[in-house]
Amino acid sequence: MSNVHVSNHPLLLHKLAMLRDVKTEPKKFRELIREISILLAYEATADLALQDKPVTTPLTQTSGFELKEMIGLVPILRAGLGMVEGFWEMMPSAEVWHLGLYRDHQTFEPIRYYNKLPVAPTVDVCVILDPMLATGGTAVEATRMLKNWGAKKIKYVGLIGAPEGIDRLATAHPDVQIYLAAIDERLNEHAYIVPGLGDAGDRQFGTG
Ligand code: URA
Repeated sequence: MSNVHVSNHPLLLHKLAMLRDVKTEPKKFRELIREISILLAYEATADLALQDKPVTTPLTQTSGFELKEMIGLVPILRAGLGMVEGFWEMMPSAEVWHLGLYRDHQTFEPIRYYNKLPVAPTVDVCVILDPMLATGGTAVEATRMLKNWGAKKIKYVGLIGAPEGIDRLATAHPDVQIYLAAIDERLNEHAYIVPGLGDAGDRQFGTG
């Protein structure tokens, strides 16, 4: 699928193996998510529009660039929170709009419980942050909410995707570019990604 981008950067793959490790403690887990997010931010922003910006160095005047588009980071509560810091370090003027969605335990379908989007879009590019693209239900619903809100350009950034979730998101929203650190084998009967890393929220917040 042309809109799915999986990074094979050595640093990222090294850190991803540490993140998956069941022995990795929450403090280290959060640190790794932040670092992997910086690397994913680099990949996911390669096509951002620029505009000219003349700059004066200590020696002379020269030409330069600045980002043209306003970026909105949209972390999905709660697991997406850990990805914000890494992205924010790379783009400190990005706005952050939180969406709260959880999976119903029986149906695995998304239930909305929090929406802090302002009345009208204030940004040009929305970047959804959610580490695990499992069934795809949450990603499809978050994208639908952003489109209804008026967002024109939406990217999805996650850490690990299952084939089922990637298919579902790419089919429902073919215009959304999807950036991941890995595509895993499958979902288990509880809709967890295998081999995966377990529950990304519990592992960050120590609530397992
Ligand atoms: N959410 C998680 O945190 N982990 C999974 O494997 C799937 C969904």
